[in-house]
Amino acid sequence: MEYVELKTVNAYCKIAKFGATLVDWKVEEQPIIFVSPNAVFDGKKAIRGGIPVCFPSFGPWSYGAQHGFARTSNWQVVEDPTNGEDESVVVLRLEDTEETRKIWNFKFTLDYKIKISGKVLDLCLDLKNNGEEDISFTTALHTYFCVDDVEKASIAGLKGLQYLDKTLPDTPKLTEDREKVELAGWTDRVYLGSSEAVKITGLVDGGEVSLTSSNLPDTVVWNPWNEKAAAMGDLGAEAWPKFICVEAGACVDPIVVPGNQSWSSSHRMEYSK
Ligand code: BG6
Repeated sequence: MEYVELKTVNAYCKIAKFGATLVDWKVEEQPIIFVSPNAVFDGKKAIRGGIPVCFPSFGPWSYGAQHGFARTSNWQVVEDPTNGEDESVVVLRLEDTEETRKIWNFKFTLDYKIKISGKVLDLCLDLKNNGEEDISFTTALHTYFCVDDVEKASIAGLKGLQYLDKTLPDTPKLTEDREKVELAGWTDRVYLGSSEAVKITGLVDGGEVSLTSSNLPDTVVWNPWNEKAAAMGDLGAEAWPKFICVEAGACVDPIVVPGNQSWSSSHRMEYSK
């Protein structure tokens, strides 16, 4: 598998060209991103962990595989890593091909800019519709964070939001009333229209990360817990307590980009300890 690396004096980031999946982000040697010890790197299956890019669909997709084809496509590096002392940036690109047009007949350029600076990781996902017809899609940056123990991690900034609970029949819309969300079992929720920063505590070394976004209104919280993890060949029964997925996305209401128009989004993660 081919990778690109970003380096600054205090941070490091590694991205697989396959899926543009960020598989490592370290600040002062501290790993923040989880990759399953059983992840498969065969260039076919989506990498279990890191930050897979879900596009043109978040979740089940009527045109093809769950979470879309971006996470299982080979991306091009269109701007090489800048690797300065304080900041480093790379831009990867995915464009339609004969193969993508067979399942989803749209012409597009999807640019993904990844930047590290200090303790911050900035991710910008921009779509250009190169055709005449509207493009409609959902998306998510499906981040797996490394935690000491998922049961001891917490997520603040979701209180008062409505969420879809995908673990319950008919996916009801409920309201979050907790200041700090803690997980005690299989969790699969889409919080709608987050506006505040979302803060995760309980990272591996007692660190925290604060998340903000623009044009990615929803926040997904997911961990499959023991039984479901054991049934997933690329996860297994051991590793599930070591991560929590907190994803920024436009997961429910599709984004519509008219012909020859563009759409931009960004997601910032700031680490602190
Ligand atoms: C989450 C979804 O974002 O991704 C879950 O909300 C899903 O429903 C999970 O199970 C993992 O998906 P996949 O396709 O990578 O196994």
